Amino acid sequence: MRISLEGKRAFVTAGGDGMGRTTAITMAELGADVFTCDIDASGLETLPDSIRTWQCDVGDSDALDAIFDEILPGGLDILINNAGVSGPTKLVEDITNDEWDQCMSICIGSHFYCARRVVPVFKAQQSGVIINMVSAAGIMGFPGRSPYVAAKYAVSGFTETLAMELGPDNIRVNGIVPGNVNGDRIERVIANHAALENLDPEEVRKIYAIGTSMQCYVDPQEISDLIVYLVSDYGRHISGQIIGVDGNTETLWPRSS
Ligand SMILES: NC(=O)c1ccc[n+]([C@@H]2O[C@H](COP(=O)([O-])OP(=O)(O)OC[C@H]3O[C@@H](n4cnc5c(N)ncnc54)[C@H](O)[C@@H]3O)[C@@H](O)[C@H]2O)c1
Repeated sequence: MRISLEGKRAFVTAGGDGMGRTTAITMAELGADVFTCDIDASGLETLPDSIRTWQCDVGDSDALDAIFDEILPGGLDILINNAGVSGPTKLVEDITNDEWDQCMSICIGSHFYCARRVVPVFKAQQSGVIINMVSAAGIMGFPGRSPYVAAKYAVSGFTETLAMELGPDNIRVNGIVPGNVNGDRIERVIANHAALENLDPEEVRKIYAIGTSMQCYVDPQEISDLIVYLVSDYGRHISGQIIGVDGNTETLWPRSS
């Protein structure tokens, strides 16, 4: 099996770091013309020169529209709705409107803002692929993270619904459930959760691993490798699936307290 994305044009949200970055780079290495944006310019500056970048807050639909106005006249084949923030780690009664709204606008709002722009193009060409980044928090509860969980359940529903709505136009839509992904973000998540539960961060790290059948953490590249398979012709009949790269998450918080 040799995956080639030659001739394909792909847009990835939040490609400056984490899984968005590894996915943008991997797709470019496989021959795609890749476009990405990020709120933080520093990550964008160190991407390969072949990847076109914009600094943008994906919670701002006008900013995304301006990017699509530049990209879409040249066509688009692949949308990777990768952007998502972890949101507050707080009990529900302590969460502010701003914290709730920010998590929603980035985690699910951005997916909608991007999908509604690319779908008319995909329909006109009768082809296209959308990958939405879900989370185990989009298929099971997670105490202390209610805005993130609510937003990621919305991403699951959005994925399943778009797969049904767009399948007749040969447009595929799938979701990915990354597990505990090694990187800066999981370190921040562990630190915040340890503070909320008054636990040692190392204990939280072990608890997260124990919640998966394989008791593991995964690397960002593992997520990107699945994504390039799904967006390639090898995935041509895979749609409406929400697929874990997570060692099979059984629970996000395997504690009784
Ligand atoms: N890391 C994990 O363990 C994990 C697990 C499950 C799901 N996810 C999901 O996977 C996706 C990618 O996660 P990650 O860990 O690679 O991300 P990350 O936290 O490493 O962030 C990646 C990039 O997002 C950018 N970003 C943040 N807010 C932005 C905004 N408003 N507009 C534009 N860019 C913004 C950051 O600057 C950063 O460059 C997210 O949807 C996340 O919810 C992550």
